[in-house]
Amino acid sequence: MSTTKTKWTVNLKVYRKKGQKAPYYDQFTMEVDPDEYVLDAIERIWAFHDRSLTFRHACHHSTCGACGMLVNGVEKLTCITYIRDVVEDGGTIVIDPLRNFPIISDLVVDMSLFFDRMEMVGQRQVIPIAEEIVGSSQKAQSAGNGKEYLRLSDCIECGMCISACPIAATNPDYLGPAVLAGAQQSGLDKKPELLQIVDQENGLWRCHSAYECTAVCPSNVDPAWRIMDLRRQVTSQRFKRLFR
Ligand code: SF4
Ligand code: FES
Repeated sequence: MSTTKTKWTVNLKVYRKKGQKAPYYDQFTMEVDPDEYVLDAIERIWAFHDRSLTFRHACHHSTCGACGMLVNGVEKLTCITYIRDVVEDGGTIVIDPLRNFPIISDLVVDMSLFFDRMEMVGQRQVIPIAEEIVGSSQKAQSAGNGKEYLRLSDCIECGMCISACPIAATNPDYLGPAVLAGAQQSGLDKKPELLQIVDQENGLWRCHSAYECTAVCPSNVDPAWRIMDLRRQVTSQRFKRLFR
C-alpha cells in the first residue's frame, strides 16, 4: 500500500535587519504542509520561534497588498504562494523584503512615498469616511471616470511592480509603474494637470519597456501596457497643442 507524505521539512532563510545593525539571514528548519502558503510558515516562525520577526500581512487572500516579499528572489504575495510551488522537501526558501523601498525592519519596507505618489496622480490610498463612499453604488461603479475617490482598478498597492522594476532600482525619483498606471487610469483628458507630473524627466519616458512590472503584478493592472497607453495620451496631447 502506498502512502503520501503530507509533511515536508524545509529551511526558511529569512532576511533580518534591525536599526543600524548590519543585515543578516536567520535560518529556521520547520515541518510544513506543502499545501500551506509561505505566509503560514512565516507566521509560524513568529509564533513559535522568534517574536521579534517583523512582517506585514492582513487579509490573507490577496486583497490588501500587505504581504509582498521576495520569495527565492521573485516578488510574490506570500499569502497565496504555495510552499510546494517554491521549494521541494528538504529544500530552502529564501525570504527577503521587497526591493527599491527603504527597509524599516526585517521584511517591512517603507511605502509612504509610493502612497503619496499614488495620491498625487489622483489615486487616493486612504479615503476619509466623511466622504461617505460606503454604500454608494453609483460612486463605486464609476471607476475610470476621474472622480477623486476612485482607486486604480484592481491595484492592491502591493508595490511589487516597483520592486521588480529595473529603472526604480537605479533611480529612486522615477515615479514607477503603479503610479504611472494610476495616472493612465485617471486620464489626461479628465485631469490635464497630470501632464506636468508624468511628462517629465522621471516620468513615463524613463520606462524602458522591460515589462517586469506586469510579470509580477498579482492583479489585473498590467502597468506596462498602461504606461504605453499613457505615452499615447501624452503624444496625442502634444499634437493637439501643435494644431491649436
Ligand atoms: S500595479 Fe500590480 S504590482 Fe503594482 S502595486 Fe498595483 S497590484 Fe501591485
Ligand atoms: S495578506 Fe493581504 S494580500 Fe496577502
